[in-house]
Amino acid sequence: MATRIALLHGPNLNMLGRRPAAHYGTVTLPQLEAQVRAWGEELGMSVATFQTNHEGAFLEHVHGLVGAVDGAVVNPGAWTHYQWSIRDALEMLGAPFVEVHLSNVEEREPHRRISVIRDIATAAVWGKGPDGYREALEILRERLA
Ligand code: DQA
Repeated sequence: MATRIALLHGPNLNMLGRRPAAHYGTVTLPQLEAQVRAWGEELGMSVATFQTNHEGAFLEHVHGLVGAVDGAVVNPGAWTHYQWSIRDALEMLGAPFVEVHLSNVEEREPHRRISVIRDIATAAVWGKGPDGYREALEILRERLA
């Protein structure tokens, strides 16, 4: 059976393609999700995607994943920097997850250097654009081997 991976995106990431290209490139979310699913297939992983702009919807989605996934790739967008409820939900997941950011959060505004989930994530990848998601899948594959 394929390894079950959840790909989770938080607020404003549905607007990829219209956000500042210098930080996020030009890829749209459907294109990015399709790319990650294809990489997943190559790695023997089935990738189920989810994006929301609503905190409660994100939390309830994560609750539904408890015991139902082997790992997750998570880009919580701005929630990364302050949203403790997202951290609590991810802590409950009971499966390893990798934090991903398209942009180089370490070299932008100071608030983007803060992550409330970094210490419970298996790893974090930033500043590599879509390729960072492939790296995240590879990290999970190694971790779950
Ligand atoms: C982001 C970085 C965050 O600071 C920002 O709020 C986002 C996207 C990224 O992918 O680079 O919405 O997570």
